Amino acid sequence: MNKTSQLRVNGQRLWDSIMAIGEIGPGQHGGSCRLALTDEDREGRDLFIQWCEQIGCSIRVDDMGNIFARRDGRNNELAPIVAGSHLDTQPHGGKFDGIYGVLAALEAIRTLHENDVTTEAPLEVVVWTNEEGSRFAPAMIASGVYAGLFEKDYAWARSDSDGNTLGDELKRIGYMGDLVCGDNPIGALLEAHIEQGPILEADQHQIGVVVGGQGQRWYDVIIKGQDSHAGSTPMPGRRDALVASAEIISMVQTLALEFSPYAVGTVGEMSVMPNSRNTIPGEVFFSVDIRNPDEDTLAEMALRFRSQVDSIVAKHAVGSVVDEIWEKPPVKFDRDCIAAVADATVALGYSHQEMVSGAGHDACQVCLVAPTSMIFVPCAGGLSHNEQESAEAEDLEAGCNVLLHAMLKLAG
Ligand code: GLV
Ligand code: MN
Ligand code: MN
Repeated sequence: MNKTSQLRVNGQRLWDSIMAIGEIGPGQHGGSCRLALTDEDREGRDLFIQWCEQIGCSIRVDDMGNIFARRDGRNNELAPIVAGSHLDTQPHGGKFDGIYGVLAALEAIRTLHENDVTTEAPLEVVVWTNEEGSRFAPAMIASGVYAGLFEKDYAWARSDSDGNTLGDELKRIGYMGDLVCGDNPIGALLEAHIEQGPILEADQHQIGVVVGGQGQRWYDVIIKGQDSHAGSTPMPGRRDALVASAEIISMVQTLALEFSPYAVGTVGEMSVMPNSRNTIPGEVFFSVDIRNPDEDTLAEMALRFRSQVDSIVAKHAVGSVVDEIWEKPPVKFDRDCIAAVADATVALGYSHQEMVSGAGHDACQVCLVAPTSMIFVPCAGGLSHNEQESAEAEDLEAGCNVLLHAMLKLAG
């Protein structure tokens, strides 16, 4: 056994770092609220950069706010082997979603630093901006710009519910960098993440070797009825936008169940106008998220969704605008990167299985322009996008060891 094959990360340091970032934008119930490009996001980014600089990494930030912390290799002409994820969270976010992937990459580099190991290719830790898509839709927007899937002007112009644009917020928090997003090559990208689903826990496997991600489509839906008095408008003549919306929500649920076991469908965001208890709602906005690992099935779900919206709105004498704001086809990861993860897992002796990601990840964007794969570790009850999200320190450490050795394999 050579020296590098014996390297192991420091699980306690990884855990402590995750907990320290988790304290920034603390949630009410043990999680975090660090929405993209808020002051809390800036504070998390600043701490991450400080840690990277402590181990001699150089920092570059691109004009989508993506951060690349670089550790030079022996041959710096080579494209870097990059690992990371995101630091932004959902409004009721956990401490691990995204954060784990960033800090696992940092821990891998800390381990190399303290053991004085230099790789052939340079290594970089990446923090992608606005992965969650909770404040600015769609999700994974900055990795999407990196991969050429979104125009930068489109991304900068995305606005939150208060009308603040992503571009202005990047400038406000000081993370509109000089590097042109997409100009820096990535030799390969690895992303470690909690699974966010129940499969690894149920199968009692410590590592998920992720071979791809499912497709998803996001819609903004507006249902237009008529405001009218709640006491004096007879039931038959009403044009109640909320009643029609309720039927659509239930239809989304039925649609996903019809395409089970792999399809999912969610309405997660809604606003009701004028939102007054004694006025029949005249207008409702809501989001729809449908997903499936198979592209043709997802397309069929999308067709069925639209035609069923049409019949529901006709029945309720209301109007509708259904705007598909995002279409993400399913992706397959790179064979060599998958092998690097699988080989490292086997060499380290961890139990594992191959899987497709149900959640979206920046890796699912970047894989279109660079060889990519992911490493999953279990999370308790499969729960994520919930402040109670939790994972075992031992599993996080195992995933980080896999990441370290997959990075070493790819970087030489
Ligand atoms: C990202 O968290 C997503 O899968 O929606
Ligand atoms: Mn995530
Ligand atoms: Mn998430």
